[in-house]
Amino acid sequence: MKDKIGIGLIGLGTVGSGVIDILSRNGELIKRRLGVPIEIKKILRKNPGKPLPAGVSGDLMTMDIKDITENPTVDIVVEVMGGLEPAKSYILSAINNGKHVVTANKALLALSGEELYHAASGRNVDLYFEGSVCGGIPIIKAIREGLAANRIETIYGIVNGTSNFILTKMTMEGKEFGEALRDAQSLGYAEADPTFDIEGIDAAHKLSVIVNMAFGTPVDFKEIYTEGISGILPLDISYAKEFNYKIKLLAIAKMKDDSIEVRVHPTMVPNNHLIATVDGIFNAVYITGDAVGPTLFYGRGAGDLPTGSAVVGDIIDVARNILNGGCGRIPPASFKEENRTLLRILSIDEIISLYYFRFTVIDKPGVLSRISGILGAHNISIASVIQKGRKEGGNVPLVMMAHEARERDVKSALKEIDRLPVISEKTVMIRVDEGR
Ligand code: HSE
Repeated sequence: MKDKIGIGLIGLGTVGSGVIDILSRNGELIKRRLGVPIEIKKILRKNPGKPLPAGVSGDLMTMDIKDITENPTVDIVVEVMGGLEPAKSYILSAINNGKHVVTANKALLALSGEELYHAASGRNVDLYFEGSVCGGIPIIKAIREGLAANRIETIYGIVNGTSNFILTKMTMEGKEFGEALRDAQSLGYAEADPTFDIEGIDAAHKLSVIVNMAFGTPVDFKEIYTEGISGILPLDISYAKEFNYKIKLLAIAKMKDDSIEVRVHPTMVPNNHLIATVDGIFNAVYITGDAVGPTLFYGRGAGDLPTGSAVVGDIIDVARNILNGGCGRIPPASFKEENRTLLRILSIDEIISLYYFRFTVIDKPGVLSRISGILGAHNISIASVIQKGRKEGGNVPLVMMAHEARERDVKSALKEIDRLPVISEKTVMIRVDEGR
């Protein structure tokens, strides 16, 4: 019986420091749960010039990855450096040396997950990645284990805290997008280059990881339709309020017969849906399984301690497997590798959704009937209309909610409508989802 579990840490940024902090503050508690202590054997970091966090001995530091991946005292390699390379090569080298791996690297899993899962299964080592999706929320474990009895039907996620913070500021304080983004940056939520957060790419990375596990299918990241929040205006947020909706950046996946919908975009959700109540930097994932019904997982999706909590939770899981001879018990992608099937991802043109349209029209008689005529000709049925203000001959917003329609038809109709001489700006379209 081993009397300790050794870990090698790759990366000493926000998450790496959180891991060290948790292992130090809760080391005794974790030992009581596990039976043996967890010891950090070596640490490699990208920026060796920076001062070490308190309590970290310089003796632990190395510049040579082999001190981790080929170190006989290291049982689990913990990759929290982020980025694609050299993280991928380091993980593959750890697996090839028979090490178990814990990673929080969502971009790497979204783009190269299949290769890593295959490598880990081939060596019968554990590859755990709770920290890669929604920080401290144990969503991977929930899908892989707690919900394993279910056919997953739908997933609605708020999986990017930065964009949720921005939309919350815009909704509650009426701020413009740019101003709310600057607030997020000054509070340290958004990256200096916030593109991945605000354009939905970070959310798509996370959605790709959970869809893979929930539906047992490899996911080609390029096929995930991704649209961010940078075009959302306070005007549309206030119209959403009038219809009793909130605008959220949702990561959506739906099981269809032999295909799946996988998409990230701003979405109007009813005010009384649980996901609409998730505000600020918080994340939540609302999953419906055929047996369990709807479930909601909520918490902090980023930060040193929340993400550190997920990473250390994985370390404890893998350590238990090592101590009890159970490694490889759970396939990395949840389904047995040979039983996974490639499901087709529907293109965005094929989806059927409810829609919000904001037309900017010249205020004169007959405009509404011309627009509704074109919508009708494309099988789009109007559920309600608002026109506020009166500016004869001037521009006014004309807002409509449409019943379920196919996106391809919506695009064709809007193209035709936007060519009408009475339309003075490109029409705004936002998808609406009742979240069922
Ligand atoms: N940048 C991410 C977010 C956190 O804003 O949620 C790390 O995944």
